[in-house]
Amino acid sequence: MRHWTELGKAVIPGTEQTLFLYQGKDDFFIKISGGGELMSTRKHGSEDALGSLPCQRLQNAHAAKVLIGGLGMGFTLAAVLKTVGKEAVVTVAELIPEVVEWNRGPLGECSGNPLNDPRSRIHVGDVAQLLRDSKACFDVIALDVDNGPEGLTKSANDWLYTSTGILAAQAALREGGILAYWSAGPDQAFHERLRRCGFLVEELSVHAHGKKGARHVIWLAQI
Ligand SMILES: C[S@@+](CC[C@H](N)C(=O)[O-])C[C@H]1O[C@@H](n2cnc3c(N)ncnc32)[C@H](O)[C@@H]1O
Repeated sequence: MRHWTELGKAVIPGTEQTLFLYQGKDDFFIKISGGGELMSTRKHGSEDALGSLPCQRLQNAHAAKVLIGGLGMGFTLAAVLKTVGKEAVVTVAELIPEVVEWNRGPLGECSGNPLNDPRSRIHVGDVAQLLRDSKACFDVIALDVDNGPEGLTKSANDWLYTSTGILAAQAALREGGILAYWSAGPDQAFHERLRRCGFLVEELSVHAHGKKGARHVIWLAQI
């Protein structure tokens, strides 16, 4: 039987759901009330790929401006920081203040404390609002706020996957920028929507952990 200790909990703003942080024998995991495991420190191959793959494709990675939607356990942020250069600035929008505290506390070590990197900026708030307010600001926007186009955490996040949300993200990109989305599984309708918004779309199937087992999907969309 799996043993764990509850380390923290947080209400998800705008919902009646609660997020729980647990520590197991040799891992940490986050669950949603009444739902399954949202994240675990044991499996982060696809979260790493969400950060590294779009940044590897940039011409100006040394001074890239990156926006990440959803801090989670900090793996995407850590992967971006490893890929970009010294002049880069990486903003992470995180909706839940407690998630930021957990990353400054017990979770931080699991991803190498990326919030301590001088290139990291944290924005506590909704990434959707930040996208609406930003015009031609970012070279990469990497979104992993939920399970994918069919969200678990917050129905308002659905907007990010609509044509209006995609076009708002497009307007927030600089010329040559890349919009990246993480998803638990494929979604042909969403892929088509990205294409109809004018993007060239690459759909990648990435292992959740190591070289075997479950796979997740990453879309890289470029004008
Ligand atoms: C699946 S996790 C992200 C995992 C992350 N890629 C990593 O490397 O660990 C989703 C995160 O997005 C946050 N989130 C959910 N909706 C959000 C929103 N609208 N704006 C910003 N953050 C959001 C959640 O609180 C959670 O921390």
